Amino acid sequence: MNHLELRQKFLQFFENKGHKLVLSASLLPKDDASVLLTTAGMQQFKPYFVGLKEAEKDFGSQNVVSIQKCFRTADIDEVGDDTHLTFFEMLGNFSFGGYFKPEAIEYAWEFLTDPKFLNIDKNRLFATFYNGNRTGTAEDTEAKQILETLPGLTKIMAQPDTDNFWGPTGTEGPCGPTVEFYVDGVEVWNLVFNEFYCHSNEELTPLPTKGVDTGMGLERLLVAVNQLETIFATDVFAPIMAKLTNLPVKAQRVVADHIRGVVFLLADYVRPSNKEQGYILRRILRRVLLHIHSSGVRLDELIETVIDLFGPVYPELVAEHQAISQFAREEADKFIRTLELGSKELDKLLQTHPKALTGQQAFNLFASYGLPIDFIKEKVPVNEAEFETAFAQHQDVSRAGVEEKFGGHGLSAGAVVSETDQQIITRLHTATHLLHAALREILGEEIHQGGSDINSERTRFDFAFPRRVEPDELKRIEDWVNQKIQAGFVIKKETLPYADAIQAGALAFFKEKYPAEVDVYTIYNETTGEVISKELCGGPHIQTSKELGTFRIVKEQSSSAGVRRIKAILE
Ligand code: ALA
Repeated sequence: MNHLELRQKFLQFFENKGHKLVLSASLLPKDDASVLLTTAGMQQFKPYFVGLKEAEKDFGSQNVVSIQKCFRTADIDEVGDDTHLTFFEMLGNFSFGGYFKPEAIEYAWEFLTDPKFLNIDKNRLFATFYNGNRTGTAEDTEAKQILETLPGLTKIMAQPDTDNFWGPTGTEGPCGPTVEFYVDGVEVWNLVFNEFYCHSNEELTPLPTKGVDTGMGLERLLVAVNQLETIFATDVFAPIMAKLTNLPVKAQRVVADHIRGVVFLLADYVRPSNKEQGYILRRILRRVLLHIHSSGVRLDELIETVIDLFGPVYPELVAEHQAISQFAREEADKFIRTLELGSKELDKLLQTHPKALTGQQAFNLFASYGLPIDFIKEKVPVNEAEFETAFAQHQDVSRAGVEEKFGGHGLSAGAVVSETDQQIITRLHTATHLLHAALREILGEEIHQGGSDINSERTRFDFAFPRRVEPDELKRIEDWVNQKIQAGFVIKKETLPYADAIQAGALAFFKEKYPAEVDVYTIYNETTGEVISKELCGGPHIQTSKELGTFRIVKEQSSSAGVRRIKAILE
């Protein structure tokens, strides 16, 4: 069964059962700041689940059906196996106070097994229900009883909330117990019975009307129906995979997944940037470019293939065809220029270090040019353990705020910053050392950096301190830093044994594990020899303070009990 037939069968099945067809919402959620991108079919229907809008009024029915474009970063590290994707399509039927568990479960069973629809052999199926382990909820005995009445379903299992309770993570929204159907051991359909509203403190309160929210991945369903080995063998991937045969298998899969994401995100007006949705797009596009670099595979050909494949289903791809190609091409040109600069640096290094690179050398290429370690390793062996250490140290100071939002799923900031941004970050990095020194000067020697986060817009610095920092103190801190900047201090880097560095008074994060040899950055006055800062740090830093411009504190706030947070910029 091809994807077009499958779509049609699904929609017809539910339309025949009184559901109104609702088109996919954009991947960019409207009026919902709780998520960066649309991750589930239910997202556009949230207001109907919580009673803010009326389905009857807007759709002419309490029951609707959709096929929703979704993008999830959560599984990005898994992409390359047989079942995981970032961009995928979710088939779903929904009810807002219309029907509930018996109908939802029976519809699902009928659609999966009836010879007129998917005709999946009942022996390949099993179902799970919720065991009630979460405080304030009960075992879903109703779902269990309904499952027991399904003719031919022999395997039924109770599962805890980690599997069979669906709701928002890290934010609030409707939630409830689920029933899940598996084919050959792979989860295909998730039926959520929204009974509660889950608050951000995890408290549950009953919803005024109960609702049904189901989700089934189109790609996995194609695998099940056609008894294939992997989602990449389905017809929503085959034409893309056919263009990638000269890449290693894992690379083929990553590229095939990511290029779909790139095209669909661009069609929904996401543009490459260093922030939020734009950052996700940039990250996956650059990963595509790295994999196809010097392989003979052409970016524009891949884009055409995706548009040809999905254009008949998603007219926005055709309408935005030109913009998609243009923005992808511009981003590719920029990235390839950076990559080439990095390659040149690498070649220079190779003249003096032809046999191997240290982890720090490889890391510097990564941090400054986005050269991934795999790219470097193709040319020269690298001390990887050392690279990891440098990376971990650097992360503490320069992890882009955006990464926190994605739980760090393979989206490291170093790999995506442009050259200009890297220069800004480098300057802010040095400014952060000055801020640290100023805080110790003005507020007391006991001030110690708790955590720091730098992106191309600002530096953020946390430190333990029992009260707020008063405006006049902030002013003195700012003035101190600006005086030092103007006085023209220089920054020196030394590599020392750890014990010697500590002996010399360098500040370190004691919670970190350091290698035997560490880099110490000292900020000092060349004429007088005055030292104002000495820190253990992975770098990189600028050479003289005059390059920094004007330092300005833009915010002082509490970050957690007893911890203050300062945000500052360079103008
Ligand atoms: N909202 C449910 C899910 O995403 C169906 O799995």
